[in-house]
Amino acid sequence: MQPWLGEEETAAVGEVIASGWVAQGPRVAEFERQFAGTQGVAHAVATSSCTTALHLALIVAGVRPGDDVVVPSFSFIATANAVVYAGARPVFADVDPVTGNLTRESVEMVLTDRTRGVIAVDQGGVPVDLLEIRTLCDPLGIVVVEDAACGAGSTYRSRPVGAGADIAAWSFHPRKILTTGEGGMLTTPNEEWAARARRLREHAMSVSAADRHASVLAPAEDYEEIGFNYRMTDLQAALGIVQLGRLPEVVARRRELAGVYAAAIAAVPGLRAVADPPWGACNYQSFWVEVRPEYPLDRDGLLAHLASTGISARRGIMAAHRQPAYAGHADVPLPVTEHLTDTTLILPLFHQMTPSQQERVVNALSSVPAQV
Ligand SMILES: Cc1ncc(COP(=O)(O)O)c(C=O)c1O
Repeated sequence: MQPWLGEEETAAVGEVIASGWVAQGPRVAEFERQFAGTQGVAHAVATSSCTTALHLALIVAGVRPGDDVVVPSFSFIATANAVVYAGARPVFADVDPVTGNLTRESVEMVLTDRTRGVIAVDQGGVPVDLLEIRTLCDPLGIVVVEDAACGAGSTYRSRPVGAGADIAAWSFHPRKILTTGEGGMLTTPNEEWAARARRLREHAMSVSAADRHASVLAPAEDYEEIGFNYRMTDLQAALGIVQLGRLPEVVARRRELAGVYAAAIAAVPGLRAVADPPWGACNYQSFWVEVRPEYPLDRDGLLAHLASTGISARRGIMAAHRQPAYAGHADVPLPVTEHLTDTTLILPLFHQMTPSQQERVVNALSSVPAQV
């Protein structure tokens, strides 16, 4: 991944510096307004990262210490960590072998009488079948949080991902296709949840720093609960506004590049590429490939082969339950998670990628030496 940043971003950040107000302020409010509009949700609350947005999402949705929250182990570890921050217990569920996402069945298998929430991830930008999971969870009073860290620009049932969620969290880390350096967003149709998240991200102050600054005699603020400093800065938001405007172009380009990879990989026995599920379209934030036994190399062998030709690919998505931090934590076997984490890799894909760069990768995939 390489972020796609240009002069417009430089100018936007420069304007914020010239304005003298660099902390959370009018740019953050504008970014929230525009993001809510493009994602088709009523409220957007900017945060310092997706991890902090997930933490706030769990709190405002009513997850309490002692609750269980179902999460995929097949995700960046922040998904599970957010549950621990909220004082709850992450309960790992397995994923679908084709999409890499939670399914209604895999969630159902791990429900307990203490399950209060589920975090459904759009892994690598592949839209999760949220409605199926909500059909199971809504009647049980279990809140489904969508971890759309990777999802900006992906669609689910003809709407942006996140639009059908009670609450969703987004990442703007440079590894994602819309970046603010670091940053995140919480979106929800629930006005009360949005208002509480807005307070909690700013030390739970009853009057925001921007509002106090705007008044000559600042009103005294109250702190009715323990909050956090999970704010985004106006410098980041200015970057985000420009990046948001580029999103359709970035997604179109990624889908074009993904199409070239997909066609080439279909002709290579033993490789399977990530693809759009029947219910949506991917932004191809991560173009992952499964290396099957028919292929002459295993996953690590292929990574080494690519590296030997100067191509930097990456291991696929991690399995959180295999990390020391979650040792002994899985309640059920997670065979699909373990299979996918062992056999997948992520190919280079970035907006500025040239046809000859992509051809190099394709040639390297289809001309491999025998396994050593
Ligand atoms: C699925 C998922 N959730 C959460 C995160 C954490 O995002 P951030 O780095 O913005 O906290 C990531 C980051 O890679 C992610 O991929």
